[in-house]
Amino acid sequence: MAKSTLSFVCQNCGAAYNRWQGKCESCGEWNTLAEEDTSGSVPVSIRSKRKGRTFALESLSGKSPDAPRLSSGMTELDRVTGGGFVRGSVLLVGGDPGIGKSTLLTQATSLLARAGHRIVYISGEEAIAQVRLRAERLGLSDAPVQLAAETSVEDIISTLSEGAVPRLIVIDSIQTMWTDTVESAPGTVTQVRASAQALIRFAKKTGAAIILVGHVTKDGQIAGPRVVEHMVDAVMSFEGEGSQQFRILRAVKNRFGPTDEIGVFEMTGLGLREVTNPSELFLSERDLGTPGTAVFAGIEGTRPVLVELQALVAPTSLGTPRRAVVGWDPSRLSMVLAVLEAHCGVKLSGHDVYLNVAGGLRIHEPAADLAAAAALVSSLVNAPLPTDAVYFGEISLSGVVRPVAQTAARLKEAAKLGFGRAILPESARGEASGDAGLSLNAVNSLTTLVAEIAARGSRRGDSGARDERQAEKNATPARIRRGEG
Ligand code: TYD
Ligand code: MG
Repeated sequence: MAKSTLSFVCQNCGAAYNRWQGKCESCGEWNTLAEEDTSGSVPVSIRSKRKGRTFALESLSGKSPDAPRLSSGMTELDRVTGGGFVRGSVLLVGGDPGIGKSTLLTQATSLLARAGHRIVYISGEEAIAQVRLRAERLGLSDAPVQLAAETSVEDIISTLSEGAVPRLIVIDSIQTMWTDTVESAPGTVTQVRASAQALIRFAKKTGAAIILVGHVTKDGQIAGPRVVEHMVDAVMSFEGEGSQQFRILRAVKNRFGPTDEIGVFEMTGLGLREVTNPSELFLSERDLGTPGTAVFAGIEGTRPVLVELQALVAPTSLGTPRRAVVGWDPSRLSMVLAVLEAHCGVKLSGHDVYLNVAGGLRIHEPAADLAAAAALVSSLVNAPLPTDAVYFGEISLSGVVRPVAQTAARLKEAAKLGFGRAILPESARGEASGDAGLSLNAVNSLTTLVAEIAARGSRRGDSGARDERQAEKNATPARIRRGEG
């Protein structure tokens, strides 16, 4: 009889322990351990002394029957995948429940099916009627997508092995799938891994591309997508603030393309709309003339993206002041605050500091340092920054503003959206020469920038602050105010 090995497996990250404990030491989540049989995903009958079969070795230059990539026809999706779905590859799309994963994939599969490809959509979560209802709402009922509501991996593979090989198979979601080869309950780490393994093997064997949908779960009731991340070829996360319309598809891992690209969508009553000019969206609801906001000229992947950073600096009533940040790295905020204190004489230890990236975007670039610092100082001295200015530059620990890549692309985007000036690193000025008609204000140290903003603050304090604010507003081209391109 097979020896069964019971372990406690973290449903978030897959780490195994031989006794129960409240907190997973590997990922730090609480109450995520569940008892599972981890004796192996292959039944004993198969595991027993099977003699290995021989297989043919292939050359690198072999011909594949179809184009290696399948373009979805959705520009934003193709951008993130690196030009389309690769034959025989497996892609994991993760995201919070309700964020719009099924909607995105219904739209993509319908477009492909209309283009004449064999596309299969397996829903393990919703009944056929529900999937049809969504398609109807999206106006895609006529698309010849082959649909099934199934959860048994063996049945799915047998069915799909018949007839022409599908170009794309969507499994919505991997957490609802189960296979006979392991005994754990559906949704557990062992089941999710074994089911994903079987599907990946099918994709590699037949050349069909497979998209696995995975829910990100916090409570650990079902295994998170992280347990299959290392097995698949690409991982995409679909993000967004529940209260906002924007959705961002981000490549987290991609064996066949870049990992820093984002695709931007807007959730509407008629499904997801592609946003081809994200800056327009992120700047659409700007609060002009308010202290504490600065526009950052960033780069996401190959594309410049303008976004507003909002800061609030307020005297604290607590012993330890609060530091809260949404959409940016908290440790970079701490660093910028430390540089402001140490080199620019800006005392923030008695203030709560809040920083927010508008529109639900997450910024990973150090180039946002300068914009963040400008927003913070602007809020502290209660002086609005010029509304037609963009900021970018990295700040070093010594307070020097360092150059960043792709200055020209950032300036071009700013000019396109009607901005009039850029505050940028001194050393980037050369790269920007002859560009786009923006007036350039090069700063080589953070102290210079702080002094300039503080001067605005004191001027404003003296007289006619409101008049100046109004004049600023009037001087701003209407399309910046509306954020149009
Ligand atoms: P869904 O794709 O079911 O999310 P997921 O598969 O990630 O769980 O999307 C669910 C949400 O999207 C739901 O709150 C309704 C909303 N939605 C729209 O706003 N417009 C639409 O056209 C559709 C189909 C859904
Ligand atoms: Mg869904």
